[in-house]
Amino acid sequence: MNGVKITPEIIREMKANRQGVPALTVYDYPMARLLDEAGVPILLVGDSVGMVVLGYPDTTHVTLAEMEHHTRAAARAKPKALLAADLPFGTYSTVADAVANAKRLQAAGAEAVKAEGGRDILPQVRAIIAAGIPYLGHLGMLPQHVLEEGKYRIKGKKDEEHAALLADAKALDEAGAFAIVLELVTPPVAAEISRAISIPTIGIGSGPDCDGQILVTHDLVGAFPWFTPRFIKPRLETAAQSREAVRQWADEVGRHPTSKP
Ligand code: KIV
Repeated sequence: MNGVKITPEIIREMKANRQGVPALTVYDYPMARLLDEAGVPILLVGDSVGMVVLGYPDTTHVTLAEMEHHTRAAARAKPKALLAADLPFGTYSTVADAVANAKRLQAAGAEAVKAEGGRDILPQVRAIIAAGIPYLGHLGMLPQHVLEEGKYRIKGKKDEEHAALLADAKALDEAGAFAIVLELVTPPVAAEISRAISIPTIGIGSGPDCDGQILVTHDLVGAFPWFTPRFIKPRLETAAQSREAVRQWADEVGRHPTSKP
């Protein structure tokens, strides 16, 4: 992107110009700086921070204070990329909460916010956008609903799910979202949604025919080896190589005690 500051408008234009939109998660300053140097146009302070950094079993435990803390750290990298942040579980149940909490993330350095849902949270989405905060949608498998649903399940196989996803995506587009994450949506439905709306779809586990792709960075670089989603092929073995480097170093130190009797 040649050092240009990325705006929501540029992300929309990428679809019009048939340019794929890569996006990755970031949780701190060095990650944001590195990924920005690599030219990734959207960096998301995802609530996946709860699992891959904070050790929670799912995203429902992540607090707004934690999201603000990680957003501030990522924002200190002053990325050219558009820096978005997740509104965590329970922070956008009402219109007033959604706007107040989106403003807190914005004050922490987020240039856009994301929340999970479609027509069910449309008043909140409209109010966030009316408050001047760019909005990134999230449809399909919604991790913040995992406790209700009992597991992470692919969406769009049933006719009613297919129709609901399409209607939700159109509603978010009309409300003024600048892009929509489609998580674990069946690839034909993700492709259909991508053709049906004007803004980019950014897929995760939703097949190759979305307008862009997003991954949890730890999955891409093999930094969280205890769980890897089925659709990911890590491109590095960060965890295994780090463990080995540390083991070698610790062995060397162990063979050379500093004080001898
Ligand atoms: O929290 C997150 O990392 C996300 C991505 C999986 C899209 O929402």
